[in-house]
Amino acid sequence: MKNIIIVNGPNLNLVGKREPTIYGKQNFNDFYQKVVQDFPQARFEYYQSNVEGLLIDKIQKVGFAADAIILNAGAYTHTSLALADAIAAVRTPVIEVHISNVYAREPIRHQSLIAANCLGSISGFGLYSYQLAIQYVIQNL
Ligand code: DQA
Repeated sequence: MKNIIIVNGPNLNLVGKREPTIYGKQNFNDFYQKVVQDFPQARFEYYQSNVEGLLIDKIQKVGFAADAIILNAGAYTHTSLALADAIAAVRTPVIEVHISNVYAREPIRHQSLIAANCLGSISGFGLYSYQLAIQYVIQNL
């Protein structure tokens, strides 16, 4: 049984309401409930914060015991060296996910400060990006 922590950063609590043409119409909590049902091989925890330091606290807290962290750092992806350092500091592998294809968007979103410290990155498959990451963890970690 894998322990997987899904961590969402700023504004991802508004998925479903927020810019639906980019992020879709499905509410993240509904999606998460379905994920828990669809992957009985894993034990999940979900954490969301709009605050950079709280995301770092969470990564530090779970990052020595969980099997994987699936992280959508939102806009902090493109700005946060502190989050990159937290990912480098922990033992648990972190998988970077994005709902939208960040490379098809504004140039500032093409840069990820966290990517080099993550096991890998998945971007552009809508909420299915999270399921791809979960499948990887279940089959490979
Ligand atoms: C995002 C992409 C980021 O550029 C953006 O700031 C987000 C969401 C995504 O999931 O597509 O908040 O991480």
